[in-house]
Amino acid sequence: MNPNLSSVPVHSLWDSHRSCTACELRGLCQGPVPGEGLVPSPTGLMLVGEAPGKNEDRGGRPFIGAAGRELEVYLWHDLGLRREDVFITNIVTCRPSGEGAKEDWKPKATHIDICTGLWLEPTLWMVRPRVVLAVGAVSAAYFLGSGTTIGEVNGIPHEMKKVGDGGRGGYRDFTLVPSFHPAAALRSKGGAGLTMRYIHEAFAVAGRVLNGAYRVPRDEHPSPTYLRLNQANQESIKLMVDITETARSRGVIALDTETLPNGEVWCLSISSIEGR
Ligand code: URA
Repeated sequence: MNPNLSSVPVHSLWDSHRSCTACELRGLCQGPVPGEGLVPSPTGLMLVGEAPGKNEDRGGRPFIGAAGRELEVYLWHDLGLRREDVFITNIVTCRPSGEGAKEDWKPKATHIDICTGLWLEPTLWMVRPRVVLAVGAVSAAYFLGSGTTIGEVNGIPHEMKKVGDGGRGGYRDFTLVPSFHPAAALRSKGGAGLTMRYIHEAFAVAGRVLNGAYRVPRDEHPSPTYLRLNQANQESIKLMVDITETARSRGVIALDTETLPNGEVWCLSISSIEGR
């Protein structure tokens, strides 16, 4: 990291956040979990998750449980960064814990509205990120709109250039890179390898945008349709058609493909034995 002397630890500024009582979540958790990192961000990267988990509620810091350890692997492997090089926060900063708290608790729209208005949006102004990694569906939908499906936008950079982008009127001068949540890789049974691959892909894209090696065309968000029609993929589709033709003539009975969220085919399995 290249430490920037004008960056200061933000913890000291967070007293008012820790005493927030703006919604009922405060009465259901140990306390708000404010963002953590340097402001403005010296690396230019900010990561926005969904909400604290149980460990974070107990420890008062974001991403310190299993998902956090997983996150650190992606940060290091794909960007060469440690967690302290990145400003890390969440869409909602309180999580119900204790008796009756649900394992699969999700923040409601009112929690998201209140919490982002009070804490995330002002934080964006302070951190002034160049790239925001939105991890998980809740975070991606906050920035890109409620119809957003993480599988469709994973790893696709979106320019958020205009103040007011997303209808929030907040600081929007960064590239947003949505990613599957690291916890999804821990949860998914059987498909963990694929989810991990998607996450690596998204984090690597964030790294390329940070380094200036990837520029989103101005006023032109690459949509899944745009990527589906790119040259490399046209070739892989042609290849698939050729393989399918050959397979038919040789008595192949099953054909299966795995595709990336952007529509590209990365794996093709063929079988000529029933049930395999
Ligand atoms: N998951 C999140 O989205 N945020 C955390 O801080 C921890 C787990």
